[in-house]
Amino acid sequence: MNTLAERLIRTHSLTVPEYRALIEKRTDALAQTLADAAVKARKAIYGTTVFTRGLIEISNICKNDCLYCGIRRGNTHCDRYRLAPEEILACAAAGYELGFRTVVLQGGEDPFFTDGVLCDLIGQIKAMHPDVAVTLSLGERSRQSYQALFDAGADRYLLRHETANRAHYEALHPKEMSYDNRMRCLRDLKAIGYQVGCGFMVGSPGQTAQHLAEDLKFIETFRPAMVGIGPFIPQKDTPFANEPAGTAALTCYLLSILRLIDPTLLLPATTALGTVDPMGREKGILAGANVVMPNLSPVDVRKKYALYDNKICTGEESAQCRGCLQRRMEAIGYTLVIDRGDRKDK
Ligand code: 5AD
Ligand code: FES
Repeated sequence: MNTLAERLIRTHSLTVPEYRALIEKRTDALAQTLADAAVKARKAIYGTTVFTRGLIEISNICKNDCLYCGIRRGNTHCDRYRLAPEEILACAAAGYELGFRTVVLQGGEDPFFTDGVLCDLIGQIKAMHPDVAVTLSLGERSRQSYQALFDAGADRYLLRHETANRAHYEALHPKEMSYDNRMRCLRDLKAIGYQVGCGFMVGSPGQTAQHLAEDLKFIETFRPAMVGIGPFIPQKDTPFANEPAGTAALTCYLLSILRLIDPTLLLPATTALGTVDPMGREKGILAGANVVMPNLSPVDVRKKYALYDNKICTGEESAQCRGCLQRRMEAIGYTLVIDRGDRKDK
């Protein structure tokens, strides 16, 4: 076996130059070797179960202007919406009936969602369904704000670091956003006690194997509970409209490496992966992922939460998405479970 692959499987760690070499030396055969080892590691901890998170896209209003993102504030073609708290609660209740025991409230950095509004919302979800984990994915906030939301009952927070390389971060974001603040947020979230998810896009403009190697090292040392990765997909109204999309093959390769870095990771096969390849989510699970995130948002807003073009699942009812994923997972020998889906210890 390739010596780097062998050592990664055995020690769960490589140096940055070694991660880079592993990425640069990707072949179909090596990808299969890593996928086999990743699936073995995943099965030892999670068996063939797949955790689900019901994703509620609460607002596409955003004060940020990230160059890659379709809901960036500078996009005047984006049809803006915001769900009312009652609509969000109705989605969470419908999700509960469908078997979701985690809801993810995801949105742009919309000033309407103050700590007061969010704490009320989290409190109401927890009062209705004490057995549901509440995950937030609402961008950069102050430490005090993260603390208030945690005290109100939020369990998890997803904030992709986007890239662990400062210069690359600066190439993907406007001047007013800072790499240091992003990292500050992630450290604060962890210190407060959230189960934290970070992550990055695969194939984002300007990304090199060196950048990806730095992402892997960052994850190896930061030790998040979750890592969300998916291919970059251009959105037609952004400065990156004409950039090529990332590939499912490289995404799956990195999923296998992440599983081997930390076998206990919660690792989603993302919607973006299902968008670049119709079998992308299945391939992600077969590469070592163990989570899927079906859409619970009201159907009339789904097309508007367009971070990238041609997103799948924007026309389906929530029940259809869950049913569809259940069939898809069963077809490859895995089962969706009704569970909060917390990280398991080894
Ligand atoms: N393609 C793929 N993923 C994207 N994201 C934002 N824009 C795109 C795009 N064009 C990802 C970012 C963000 C997450 C919510 O979606 O990584 O953190
Ligand atoms: Fe949404 Fe298949 S998961 S339609």
